[in-house]
Amino acid sequence: MSSNPTSSSPVKSTGLHTGAIKPGVAKKDPILIADHVKRQFGGLVAVDVEHVEIPRNAITALIGPNGAGKTTFFNLLTGFDTPNEGTWSFNGKSLAKVSAFKVARMGLIRTFQLTKALGLLTVMDNMKLGSTSQPGERLGASLFPFVWKKKDREIDDKAMDLLKRFKLDAKKDDFAASLSGGQRKLLEMARALMTDPELVMLDEPMAGVNPALTESLLEHILGLKKAGMTVLFVEHDMHMVRHIADWVIVMAEGRVVAEGDPHEVMKNPAVIDAYLGSHQDTDLGAVTGRITLPKLPKEK
Ligand SMILES: Nc1ncnc2c1ncn2[C@@H]1O[C@H](COP(=O)(O)OP(=O)(O)O)[C@@H](O)[C@H]1O
Ligand SMILES: [Mg+2]
Repeated sequence: MSSNPTSSSPVKSTGLHTGAIKPGVAKKDPILIADHVKRQFGGLVAVDVEHVEIPRNAITALIGPNGAGKTTFFNLLTGFDTPNEGTWSFNGKSLAKVSAFKVARMGLIRTFQLTKALGLLTVMDNMKLGSTSQPGERLGASLFPFVWKKKDREIDDKAMDLLKRFKLDAKKDDFAASLSGGQRKLLEMARALMTDPELVMLDEPMAGVNPALTESLLEHILGLKKAGMTVLFVEHDMHMVRHIADWVIVMAEGRVVAEGDPHEVMKNPAVIDAYLGSHQDTDLGAVTGRITLPKLPKEK
């Protein structure tokens, strides 16, 4: 049962795991499973995840101090980097040696901590680049212009629908470079949806976003879950995490050191240690003022 104090609080998914909560705990319906995934840069072990499962159709926050390995882990899971060892699977299919492009086609899409919107392309062209079923890609379709003409229109329509949803339709012919940081984040999220993903991984979607846009970004993330998708996102703002995450996974020094319900996880000594050990500037209870959230019971 949810114990959210206001009606505007999102409905949390509960009962996601099975058995005692500990790092690597099994999920009832995992969409992604990683085993012994390790990535070293020279002598530095950036990621060393023994086992982790991401629950389907829920919002999972991946938190941890800077340098914990979150972005590297995202890169490994989505085919943008290759681990030294380990296996991981999405919907039961191994993703080892699968290219980022194919991973996206299979339904796992990610956005970047630093947005990758192409500044010298228009907003609309950025959207079209996000489509994984562009005409001419497959020989079969390119032999039949009427097939790809129709496809082209479908892509246009879909891009417009998404731009409207993200309130970027008025900017469709503007260069992406003219957008604000927040609008670029929205564009990146909208573009990610062009592929009809099942799992959306967002690397610090709120970072650098103007407060006026954070609430709409939050609503969009909640909307992904409502539409049946799974979200895994990296975020430093613990209020945001508590507000929208159904589950929290904590990384420190490349490892998963804790996971669980957002409210429980923040009380975990391993989590407090991880943050206080290497990230003194993060106050786990700090009010950032970036979004207005319902008052939560005091931690501890
Ligand atoms: N390409 C790379 N080459 C060398 N070291 C890297 C590289 N990418 C990340 N690292 C190092 O790996 C560690 C984890 O980084 P990162 O995954 O970016 O952490 P986070 O996203 O949690 O802040 C850091 O110590 C970082 O300096
Ligand atoms: Mg990062």
